[in-house]
Amino acid sequence: HTTTVGIIGGGPAGLLLARLLHNAGIDSVVLELRDRAYVEQRQRAGILEQATVDALRAAGAGARMDAEGIPHDGIELRFGRRAHRIDFPSLTGGRSVMVYAQTEVVKDLVALQLAEGDRLLFGAEVTSVEGADSDTPVVRFVHEGREQTLSCDYVVGCDGFHGVTRDSVPESLRTTYERTYPYSWLGVLAEAPPVYDELVYAHSERGFALASMRSATVSRLYLQVPNGTDPADWSSERIWDELDARFALDGDPGWKLERGRVTSKAVLPMRSHVTEPMRYGRVLLAGDAAHIVPPTGAKGLNLAVADVVVLARALARWRETGGTELLDAYSDTCLRRVWRAEHFSYAMTTMLHTGPAQSPFETKLQLSQLERIATSPHAAAELAENYTGLPLPR
Ligand code: FAD
Ligand code: DHB
Repeated sequence: HTTTVGIIGGGPAGLLLARLLHNAGIDSVVLELRDRAYVEQRQRAGILEQATVDALRAAGAGARMDAEGIPHDGIELRFGRRAHRIDFPSLTGGRSVMVYAQTEVVKDLVALQLAEGDRLLFGAEVTSVEGADSDTPVVRFVHEGREQTLSCDYVVGCDGFHGVTRDSVPESLRTTYERTYPYSWLGVLAEAPPVYDELVYAHSERGFALASMRSATVSRLYLQVPNGTDPADWSSERIWDELDARFALDGDPGWKLERGRVTSKAVLPMRSHVTEPMRYGRVLLAGDAAHIVPPTGAKGLNLAVADVVVLARALARWRETGGTELLDAYSDTCLRRVWRAEHFSYAMTTMLHTGPAQSPFETKLQLSQLERIATSPHAAAELAENYTGLPLPR
């Protein structure tokens, strides 16, 4: 097989890239390891930045998002058993976010790709990428039990943190920056209406908690838990009791979450990771394949979208003019924004979680910073600008 752009991985990055290339008249093939039902049901991110919303609309993939997504103009921070709202539009010149789950973004992009787009193969396992430094890199993959090859002008690794593209590049050519965190999240999906109409991020003596939502009847909830926690140790009753304890308010002792059936629970480790550069000859990396953030800042999916918007523009320029100047700049262009999100995600994470060896001094620093955000419009604006996301590079 041959194509112009070989895309490894059919997550948000790979699927949106294929859509953007299709819109620009550039042929691609998406190779996705899992089956369609699996990628459409994988519970992950829930918050779309303004720039992500804009990018999905511009790609012609925004119709259901605009009908069913829930616009949010702020978040609530809880600490010291008190609540403080951060208003996004007034602090950012009108920017906000949208609650629309990654599962729904993926469903919309898969449907568009199958209806109008180029080839998308499920159950296609890429085993290696060869010839990054040649003019026709080759992707080796196994599909329906047969070993096959795909020759491309460019290969884009959108295969997530555990993908193979990054590792096809010699280690001597890449630098990795990494940090792991001494806690994880227990992520819960429940058939319970959200009791509050915005997200609540809580710092408490018992650890971090986050209340998010998927719809008017489904809540998405997260609890900080120790690394290595077995979800089986968390009965539904224990989950709801712990959430209520961490969200407790002095001024509103009756505040409780509405309880419902827990339909899934999973433990998510937390990590920061950046691989530099994001390009090796004709092989490029995008999304989680190149960088991971801890989820507290809701940045992972948004960074993946930003990468492929920049990359699609660079590939379109190359296709039109033969010029590679935007492709040459791709890694630097993305990494500036990536490192901003890495810092924000780290700062949100370390401000809101209680580490296992945390000293009372460190807790006081966290509370001081939260107080600063709650009382200073400048500090609040810094959070709001980062949370709603920086504009995409032009
Ligand atoms: P992915 O979505 O990981 O897609 C990569 C795709 O490549 C997958 O479909 C995979 O099957 C495929 N693939 C892998 N290897 C191969 C191969 N060898 N051959 C072919 N295909 C392959 N972000 C938030 O903001 N909030 C959250 O709550 C949140 N929760 C998360 C929970 C988990 C468990 C994980 C892993 C991530 C979470 N994230 C969250 C981050 C966010 O979901 C990711 O940043 C986002 O999915 C990145 O999209 P992507 O397309 O780059 O990678
Ligand atoms: C969700 C996940 C996040 O990591 C976050 O910061 C906010 C919301 C969610 O899944 O809804």
